[in-house]
Amino acid sequence: MESKSPFKSDILKGKVALLTGGGSGIGLEISRQFGKHGASIAIMGRRKSVLDSAVSYLQSFGIPAIGLQGDVRKQEDAKRVVELTVKQFGKLDILVNAAAGNFLVSPEDLSPNGFRTVLDIDSVGTFTMCQEALNYIKKGGPGRSSTSGGLILNISATLHYTASWYQIHVAAAKAAVDAVTRNLALEWGTDYDIRVNGIAPGPIGDTAGMRKLGPEEISNKSREYMPLYKLGEKHDIAMAALYLASDAGKYINGTIMPVDGGLWLSRPRHLPKDAVKELSRTVEKKSRNAPVGVPPSKL
Ligand SMILES: NC(=O)c1ccc[n+]([C@@H]2O[C@H](COP(=O)([O-])OP(=O)(O)OC[C@H]3O[C@@H](n4cnc5c(N)ncnc54)[C@H](OP(=O)(O)O)[C@@H]3O)[C@@H](O)[C@H]2O)c1
Repeated sequence: MESKSPFKSDILKGKVALLTGGGSGIGLEISRQFGKHGASIAIMGRRKSVLDSAVSYLQSFGIPAIGLQGDVRKQEDAKRVVELTVKQFGKLDILVNAAAGNFLVSPEDLSPNGFRTVLDIDSVGTFTMCQEALNYIKKGGPGRSSTSGGLILNISATLHYTASWYQIHVAAAKAAVDAVTRNLALEWGTDYDIRVNGIAPGPIGDTAGMRKLGPEEISNKSREYMPLYKLGEKHDIAMAALYLASDAGKYINGTIMPVDGGLWLSRPRHLPKDAVKELSRTVEKKSRNAPVGVPPSKL
């Protein structure tokens, strides 16, 4: 059964959002939820067929949507896509950077070129899109009031909070995305009234990313270590995005919200709970009887 949104259906009424990677997975679900809550949607990606079917899907919910072909690694594409979005809908309120590249590889097998490609898409692509959007999304931009800027939302991950096997390139790229989020929040929040936030998803079921990175056997096993014992849903990420994009999040700037069920904090449980109780009773008793370390009096 489809999860329902707890938000009112007009919280993004009149807003215009551009989403890179909006044609599939998490980006598409954020597009759909933004649209269902009142926004007009432009989605960007490289494959026309993916964009076309995503646009039809969005339109089937009555959402005003367009697909714009482009590669975030190319500045001219970024510029054209932002301009076309504004041409179509009159302004730009929200930019979501969800486009990313990913694959599993060990550091010794990863070519510098492979490393660079992921950084180019995730980190440089995110920065390029932000820069091209600036003149439209800042306070006083076309169709905007002179006091209120828009929102940038960068999708990263939690891999780089610790370290992850076979993900050195993605961890490096997402660490850079988070740095872009925080630095722009400081600089563009101050100068242009633009809020810049991030969402760091954990493993989200039913996405291309998850299918590539966590084959069923592995994700089943890792579920045992997760605090909530389950993968996230695209809906969970879209709800966090809605919260940050709506007025509920109007004082939130420079935050990167992990939406991972607490997974990045988790460690396998080495001792069962009962054993801990038993052990702590014994240790407690022993420590009460143990000398406290004060040298005996010589008197
Ligand atoms: N799925 C997860 O469990 C998970 C976990 C943590 C973080 N994330 C992050 O969440 C975001 C979405 O993930 P997902 O799994 O839903 O991914 P996905 O379905 O593979 O979506 C990636 C999208 O980015 C687009 N894209 C890739 N390279 C591009 C480029 N150079 N220029 C423009 N568009 C490009 C792709 O379209 P084209 O190929 O047609 O260009 C595709 O629509 C990513 O940032 C990912 O790192 C996902």
